[in-house]
Amino acid sequence: METLDYDVAIVGTGLAGLRTAIEVLRRDKGRLGLRVAVISKLYLMRSHSVSAEGGTSAVLYPEEGDSFELMAWDTIKGSDFLADQDAVWRFVHIATQEIRLIERWGVPWNRRADGRIEQRWFGGLSFPRATYAQDKTGFFEMRALYDTLLKYENWDRFDENFVTSIVIENNEFKGFTAIDLKTGNFRYFRAKAGVIATGGAGQLYRITSMAASSTGDGYGLAYNAGLPLKDMEFVQFHPTGLVPRGILITEAARGEGAYLINKDGERFMKKYAPSKMELAPRDIVSRAIMKEIMEGRGIYDDNSGLYHVWLDMRHLGKEKIEERLPFIREIGLKYLGIDIVDQPLPIRPTVHYNMGGIHVDIDGKVLNANGSPVKGLWAAGEAACVSIHGSNRLGSNGTNECLVYGYIVGNDVYNYIEKERPALPNPSQNILLAEEDRIFGKILGKESGGEDVYQIKDELKDTMEKYVHVYRTGSDLEKAVIKIKELKERYKYIKLSDKSRIFNYNLEHALELGFMLDIAEVIARGALLRTESRGAHARLDYPNRDDANWLKHTIALKGAEGPLFSYIPVKITMWKPVARVY
Ligand code: FUM
Repeated sequence: METLDYDVAIVGTGLAGLRTAIEVLRRDKGRLGLRVAVISKLYLMRSHSVSAEGGTSAVLYPEEGDSFELMAWDTIKGSDFLADQDAVWRFVHIATQEIRLIERWGVPWNRRADGRIEQRWFGGLSFPRATYAQDKTGFFEMRALYDTLLKYENWDRFDENFVTSIVIENNEFKGFTAIDLKTGNFRYFRAKAGVIATGGAGQLYRITSMAASSTGDGYGLAYNAGLPLKDMEFVQFHPTGLVPRGILITEAARGEGAYLINKDGERFMKKYAPSKMELAPRDIVSRAIMKEIMEGRGIYDDNSGLYHVWLDMRHLGKEKIEERLPFIREIGLKYLGIDIVDQPLPIRPTVHYNMGGIHVDIDGKVLNANGSPVKGLWAAGEAACVSIHGSNRLGSNGTNECLVYGYIVGNDVYNYIEKERPALPNPSQNILLAEEDRIFGKILGKESGGEDVYQIKDELKDTMEKYVHVYRTGSDLEKAVIKIKELKERYKYIKLSDKSRIFNYNLEHALELGFMLDIAEVIARGALLRTESRGAHARLDYPNRDDANWLKHTIALKGAEGPLFSYIPVKITMWKPVARVY
């Protein structure tokens, strides 16, 4: 086992991870000489954040009618009142400063004719506040953060290192264990502070806009370390995933004026959200599309056997499409041979985001089962649940959360080290040896059992796609829970076909699958227990929001027989829940 010593170890190199690293180093300026490890199972710039497309919301033009109050209200109403309002209030303020800051770091925001930053409409907004760089916003943001990080010296990158566990003793963070995928060596990242910024878990589903790497590792790491997950039953379906695989067709297309059309040529959103139409929040538009399909107004696609509706951009014209949606045009051409200038795209809802995540406080500190911070551990971005998005995130409120919480967590980590001057931890060797044996002895070395990792993963995806989708029922969710239990049992008998150490993806996929099965169980069981409809959690058997009984966050802890659930109150400051109509 190799031990690597750092002051701060950050897992995940998307927007949240990179922004956190920059903030720690920016605060330090060499004063404490803090050394930061940036760890990813991928090559750094391949993090899923690069695929964010449409925009990053922030209040830039109060003189034109936008305000922090309005952005907070949009976010809270969009969340179906499950967001913690103190966190939202802080978030909307810092988002503005982040947009200005990363502009100086090199993000080429689209411009108005007068040279000021341009913004566009997104679903559920009362003002067009999605700041954007064409339809490749995440890519440009990632580039700017990476370029900025390169200006600092005190950090090391550990690409293609798969983190297998969080080392915690006596409620104190003591580091991460990892496999160096290039060599197969086992590593212990010993650090005074740790940050989990590993993104979401779209790969639980068959149709998703999330990268193949979005397997929810951070959720699994926390859950297996005995830490609570919050609100995991709220899974966001983005309305416009390209058929058949669910590649993201940005909401900015509708922001720029695209129509949703059913098989009869009808702009059906007028029935579901007459004032906002195609620019209603994602949960509402996804439900509308599924309803059209379920009631026979979808279009059948022979190749995939899937039903879809059309996203029509023809009326936008070639010039606007080329200026603002060039990537969407490229996606249509490359994947389906469709030019959106003269043909509509076939789309249907695709899994896009996890509103839930690792239970953290307003500073991103990871909380334990008693609701107290774990000393030295933080989470940021989609891996964390503060909660800003409640039961439904607004489009363009994801990349800004990563930036804002990277900033907040980076500062909090720095303050902690500056104030407390913690020493490097010394965990019991038994913990590290047991983890090494679990991976290389019990999983890689196992010769018995005949279960195949990829077969189980396939069945899991089909189960989630079929039973834990946009619309849910108690009986479907029960079927999902039973099937996931069966898959978890079979997982105990997996046998890897690749026994080598070097770039053993079979081993990596087996470890990811372990996390995915745990998370799927938390999602399905949490959804079964929540007998109401709120945001992205739509129960056909409980169609109404039930504030009397369910205006509360779900907390899930790992128990011997599966997740154990409890509930905590939502923080309501200024905005009382009202009927959510658009
Ligand atoms: O549709 C999109 O461009 C996605 C944006 C988001 O999830 O915030």
